[in-house]
Amino acid sequence: MTDDNGPGPCHIVIFGATGHLARIKLLPSLFRLHCASRLGDGLAIVAMGRRPWSLDEWLSYLREALEKSGVDVTSEAYASFAQRFEYVEGDLHEAATYQSLFATLSKPRPGVCENIIFYLSIRPEDFMPVVEQLDRAGLNRGHGRHRIVVEKPFGRDLASAEALNRELHQHFDEEQVFRIDHYLGKETVQNLTVLRFANTMIEPIWNRNYIDHVQITVAESDGIGSRAGYFDSSGTLRDMVQNHLLQLVASVAMEPPATLDARDRRDEKVKVFRSIRSLDRQDLREIAVRAQYAAGVVKGEQVPGYLDEDGVPDGSRTETFAALRLYIDNWRWRNVPFYLRTGKRLAAKSSVIALRFRHPPQQLFHETPLENIDSNWITLQLQPDECIEIQLYAKQPGLDLRPRVVRLNTLYRDDEEAGGDAYETLLLDVITGDRSLFIRFDEVEECWRVVEPLLDAWAADDLPMASYAAGSHGPEEADALAHSSEHRWRNDR
Ligand code: BG6
Repeated sequence: MTDDNGPGPCHIVIFGATGHLARIKLLPSLFRLHCASRLGDGLAIVAMGRRPWSLDEWLSYLREALEKSGVDVTSEAYASFAQRFEYVEGDLHEAATYQSLFATLSKPRPGVCENIIFYLSIRPEDFMPVVEQLDRAGLNRGHGRHRIVVEKPFGRDLASAEALNRELHQHFDEEQVFRIDHYLGKETVQNLTVLRFANTMIEPIWNRNYIDHVQITVAESDGIGSRAGYFDSSGTLRDMVQNHLLQLVASVAMEPPATLDARDRRDEKVKVFRSIRSLDRQDLREIAVRAQYAAGVVKGEQVPGYLDEDGVPDGSRTETFAALRLYIDNWRWRNVPFYLRTGKRLAAKSSVIALRFRHPPQQLFHETPLENIDSNWITLQLQPDECIEIQLYAKQPGLDLRPRVVRLNTLYRDDEEAGGDAYETLLLDVITGDRSLFIRFDEVEECWRVVEPLLDAWAADDLPMASYAAGSHGPEEADALAHSSEHRWRNDR
């Protein structure tokens, strides 16, 4: 699965080292990997930033960022982690910045070699200018391996994604490009592969003959924070659905791959995306809902509505919630609704994939009418806790033969077990060259194809914008997506 000989020494160059993602995810993940001795001695990190800081100033920023992120920062661990860093100051658009970077990368460091990973944790519009500058400075070639990690969103739509890919390939070969979707590194998503393909009792029932519908909810209680600039020009459909939620759909729906290597897994995911029924313009009103949060109370705290958040333009029509009903037209899933919803400022942070099974065909338990028997469910929770639950019926103890719900539940990570963030897994994969959890470009293309009719209709403001109170489960309009009166969103998990 790796395209080379394992971890090996390298430089990781983080563009946007003082940005939101680096602060909350990348730096804490690198620190945890360091503490777990997973980085090896020969790994150095270059933080790129605009601020005119000395290395010491960067390091005090780093320490504060780590402490705020909640990782346990002991002085000893921090001191050895700090040794890995260099700080390069400069404007991303200036050639001089890349000369400084070149000089920094050329400094001899014991055990660190010429392999370089460029991590672009920057605004999408800065991707190409940085890539071109790297090429001009000769930083994408020469001795050693050169890899580039590109964060989502990859483009704003199909045409811009294709243009971006073409341009990227003028400077980096496909084997060098790692398109990241951190949802694929989440423990539960990887566990889905194991649950489905390591258990003979699961796979035979994982299809339209037994499964009635699938719900995928990714709910966040946070608002947009300080990211109005990015978020308002993106919206939930681009920010979450085109990538994270569709990747979850593929993980649920894909066929068993021939092997777990990158090509086979990604081939199977692409087949799912290609089988998703095209969203017909006529149906959009019935199968999709967009909404914005209004003021409300989240976790006991009064919070403003989206339009009153700092940096959001007056009258913005950007959605902070999206819900969608999809169908996958293949043998396994035809006519099984897949309900997707995601939004900011919802009641709680909770991400769950729930599969509901069909009703039993016959009523045997006279004292419990069929309509009082819910179906079986399998739920896979991604966050806050990672958990798989199977809801079955068993006999209620006593003289009568009454069914009652039992839940076979596994919180599958004990407190003592290493609690890796998705970024830890994915950073290690980039270092070792394992591409199986990264996105191939045909996946990106197909995912844009799926959402594009909706992007266009929402951009043209052809469809209504619903509203929901911050702290709620989303707009009532999302209930109307149900294909059958028996289908209801699970709000309890
Ligand atoms: C990011 C989005 O990709 O995922 C954010 O840009 C979102 O808007 C985040 O908050 C959610 O990730 P997680 O891992 O916290 O569910």
